[in-house]
Amino acid sequence: MKTDKVYILAIESSCDDTSAAVLENNIVLSNIIANQEVHAQYGGVVPELASRAHQQNIVPVVAQALERAGITKEQLSAVAYTKGPGLMGSLLVGTSFAKSMALALDIPLLAVNHMQAHIMAHFIKDENQIAPSFPFLCLTISGGHTQIVKITEDLTFEVLGETIDDAVGEAYDKSAKLLGLPYPGGPLIDKYAKKGNPKAFPFSKPKVKGLDFSFSGLKTAILYFIQKKERENPDFIKENLHDICASIQFTIAEILMDKLKMAVKETGIKEVAIAGGVSANSEIRKRLKLASRNYKWNTYIPKFEFTTDNAAMIGISGYYQYLHNKKADFSEPAKARLKVTE
Ligand code: KG4
Ligand code: ZN
Repeated sequence: MKTDKVYILAIESSCDDTSAAVLENNIVLSNIIANQEVHAQYGGVVPELASRAHQQNIVPVVAQALERAGITKEQLSAVAYTKGPGLMGSLLVGTSFAKSMALALDIPLLAVNHMQAHIMAHFIKDENQIAPSFPFLCLTISGGHTQIVKITEDLTFEVLGETIDDAVGEAYDKSAKLLGLPYPGGPLIDKYAKKGNPKAFPFSKPKVKGLDFSFSGLKTAILYFIQKKERENPDFIKENLHDICASIQFTIAEILMDKLKMAVKETGIKEVAIAGGVSANSEIRKRLKLASRNYKWNTYIPKFEFTTDNAAMIGISGYYQYLHNKKADFSEPAKARLKVTE
């Protein structure tokens, strides 16, 4: 197998974003993302609508990724795609497309674990930041996951702690829904929080053993708090939106940082990364930078464009699998449920 210049076409379709990227080794040449606006009116992703939208988007998105990269399909070395976890109907679109393309071009197929890919985004070549050194810890925070993962040299992924109920992105989105904000509400809470007082409304932190997390209690606490306040003043949300958002954001950041500090203490590993959609959050990014100064951690914050779902992260994972000759079989099925260790 030639490894001097490897061109990988990567496809991501696990949830509601259709994305295609082209990489030359570890360099991203293009990364196209088609967001699906259709879900906003339903307050969450509607699986059936997501897979239909992927069907419409996939051909133009791949064509655009190749065109922007200036690469013809004949130049491709392999096709990487998300095998899971995710919504089955969505995964099937990317899986079938990737298999057909690799088969037609007679090139290897690379099946990528979406959760590993969020972490591997740190290995995309970036002139402003070096990649983490092994072993490192990664706080992976997204709409479906909240985990602290330890990654070792041979690219093994070990879960040190994870949520026992809701993911942190879910906590953001469900809280936003309670405030009447459209889906996905995480980025909006972040936006309004910037103008609010984080100490305005204290919410208690859950007591969960070890490095595990819990967010369902916080969601319920916010629900009861809002119901109570609205009985006293029907305009409570409107009049206090910034302070409510800042208070929610503060509590979530505290919960995450407490556990991350505990993980560093327990493992003695001071190489600390964050990944996943919620790693776009300004407060969490700020706290990690502060931790780097205060506790002498080496911290790794992904470039904004590689935080939420994107195909570039699938491409970099695929590149490492290609180097390790980990080709997928064409009979490999899509997997709605898949652990980061699989
Ligand atoms: O990784 P991702 O794109 O998809 C999953 O694999 O789940 O993460 C999406 C999640 C959503 O819950 C979204 O609200 C959240 O990431 N998110 C944010 C921010 N940007 C995206 N949450 C808080 N603050 C943000 N700035
Ligand atoms: Zn994701």
